Amino acid sequence: MRLSEARVVLTGASGGLGSALARQLAEAGASLLLTGRDAGRLATVALPAGCEVRRVAADLTSEEGIAALAQAARDFGADVLINNAGTGGFGLFENQAPKTVAHILATDLAAPLRLTHALLPVLRDRPAAAVVNIGSAFGSIPFAGFAAYSAAKAGLRAFSQALRRELADSPVRVIHVAPRAIDTALDPPAARALNAALSNACDRPEVVAAHVVDALRRGVAERHIGFPERLFARLNGLAPELVDRGLRGKLGVIKQHATAQHTESP
Ligand SMILES: NC(=O)c1ccc[n+]([C@@H]2O[C@H](COP(=O)([O-])OP(=O)(O)OC[C@H]3O[C@@H](n4cnc5c(N)ncnc54)[C@H](OP(=O)(O)O)[C@@H]3O)[C@@H](O)[C@H]2O)c1
Repeated sequence: MRLSEARVVLTGASGGLGSALARQLAEAGASLLLTGRDAGRLATVALPAGCEVRRVAADLTSEEGIAALAQAARDFGADVLINNAGTGGFGLFENQAPKTVAHILATDLAAPLRLTHALLPVLRDRPAAAVVNIGSAFGSIPFAGFAAYSAAKAGLRAFSQALRRELADSPVRVIHVAPRAIDTALDPPAARALNAALSNACDRPEVVAAHVVDALRRGVAERHIGFPERLFARLNGLAPELVDRGLRGKLGVIKQHATAQHTESP
């Protein structure tokens, strides 16, 4: 897709990955419709001079938020939707309140599906269009301590693949990008400490944003970031019991940090 002519709706634009993405897309010449819940945070996203930008505050877990953003996207003439907004979900599943689990599924799975559904009629009318879903390595390597988050991201991966197959005869490309850990505010201190304890690689948001922009430009269907993560994703597909065994050895340290998370934020 030619980014200099793209009209991009970007959710989660005020977050760590979203603001890096907004900058890189604007530098490539794209016009932007940025969204997040907090209008004040959205206003602080720094962009190069001369870029066409609109900002809409909307909570994507509500019907009203989806409807308001869909209307703004129609007025804007969107041809790209990037479903990037998300919430983290670190903690032992049995310690998470039902409302926490519901919030993770609503934000990380239901919201991108509902927004995509609302925007498809607009995107189908364009000569070339794309939906980009920001998943996670945990969508292919479901991880202890992230059960609901892994379920949401695995659902988003399956949705991306099914929709891509359904829209194969349309102008709409469906792209799924699965980052590993990113250095943003999404993860609470206990999850960051776990990453450090397990020596999990953590990418800068600018690096991940460059992958997303590249995948969009080339129309790449699937982009999994990080070599060991790509390998483990394949292994988990072929022989999940091997990954079960590997993670069993890390369960003590995962539980220790997940318990700290539960104490910090019951
Ligand atoms: N950080 C990581 O380690 C990591 C790893 C793999 C994948 N990812 C994925 O990357 C994406 C971006 O995450 P990030 O790390 O940049 O997180 P972040 O810095 O916490 O940003 C999250 C963004 O989503 C918005 N948001 C959250 N809930 C929302 C809602 N209900 N309605 C509308 N907007 C909402 C936030 O803005 P408001 O709070 O103002 O609404 C913010 O702009 C997410 O999909 C995440 O799952 C992150």
